[in-house]
Amino acid sequence: MLDTLNTIESDGLAELASAADADALEQWRIAYLGTRGKLKAAMGRMKSVAKADKPAVGKRMNEVKKALEDKFQQVSAAFSVKMGASFDAEVGHRPRIDMTEPGLIESRHVGRRHILARVREELVEVFARMGFAVATGPELEDDEHNFVKLNIPADHPARDPIDNFYVDNPARTERPRMLRSQTSTVQIRVMDAAVAAGTGPPIKIISPGRVYRPDTVDATHHFMFHQLEGLYIDRGVSMVDLKSTLFHFARAYFGPEAQVRLRSSFFPFTEPSAEFDLKIALKPGDEPDWIELGGCGMVHPAVLTACGIDPEEWTGFAFGFGIERLAMGKYGIPDIRLLFENDLRFLQQL
Ligand code: DAH
Repeated sequence: MLDTLNTIESDGLAELASAADADALEQWRIAYLGTRGKLKAAMGRMKSVAKADKPAVGKRMNEVKKALEDKFQQVSAAFSVKMGASFDAEVGHRPRIDMTEPGLIESRHVGRRHILARVREELVEVFARMGFAVATGPELEDDEHNFVKLNIPADHPARDPIDNFYVDNPARTERPRMLRSQTSTVQIRVMDAAVAAGTGPPIKIISPGRVYRPDTVDATHHFMFHQLEGLYIDRGVSMVDLKSTLFHFARAYFGPEAQVRLRSSFFPFTEPSAEFDLKIALKPGDEPDWIELGGCGMVHPAVLTACGIDPEEWTGFAFGFGIERLAMGKYGIPDIRLLFENDLRFLQQL
């Protein structure tokens, strides 16, 4: 009897190991574990086993049964992983799972990217087509990058603690840290890095990012907003390149009707400096009107020199504008706060 059980075990395991498909597996199950299978037949013969041998044979019987059942579970699990739902359906051990069926929980709110993220991507794309690479810089900056190297002198009103988020006390710290108030900081970082690495100029980058100013929040102001900075330094870059770049951008982004206007202005880090406006129709059918977009100019020689670039050899232009401003213009959004409140009733309209 023990020999029979040993044979059932070794044959059973060997056949199971060579079962090639779901059919073979089921045939095996019927032959070994089924009600008329080999194991049941052996159990039926327990009656004829001598009383003294019964405990040993019974124990062996249980071992063989467990070994075959365990192996069967293991092989059929491996099969269902390999063959997917159809195997489950054929064998009928588990509910059929069709991975291609839509989920039970109907998702009615399909998400989308935030309007500001999409506008930023569109802008990056337009400038990328003009050859601008994307650069980034830290939001936690220091006054060296936010002011000093941008030619903004110590007594300049823009450096007043009232108008900035200083992290260190500027009166008592050598190089006080602050949340950057403009993305112009990235100009300095990029020029410093290019000079240190010996890779530039030429330099042609844009840098979209967050900036922080302690403004009172209203329909057009927020303590955090986004800017897009541009910087192009090469031999012989002129104001004409600046204007044609901005013009090209306006038409690519707003359509062939868009116009650009420069008005002379002042920034410590550019000379000459200008503000630039865009003429666009805010809503379809509206008369086009001018909106102020940002500042620009030819990079001040003092800024180039501070970064180790010879202003006799290289010239460049820079510009910076607010992304919210532009998004509000393009999409007719009346209040900047809508962009940060994350109210789905607003976001779903865009
Ligand atoms: N950083 C200026 C601001 O925040 C904008 C600006 C003006 C950026 C002139 C420039 C520039 O690069 O050339 O108001």
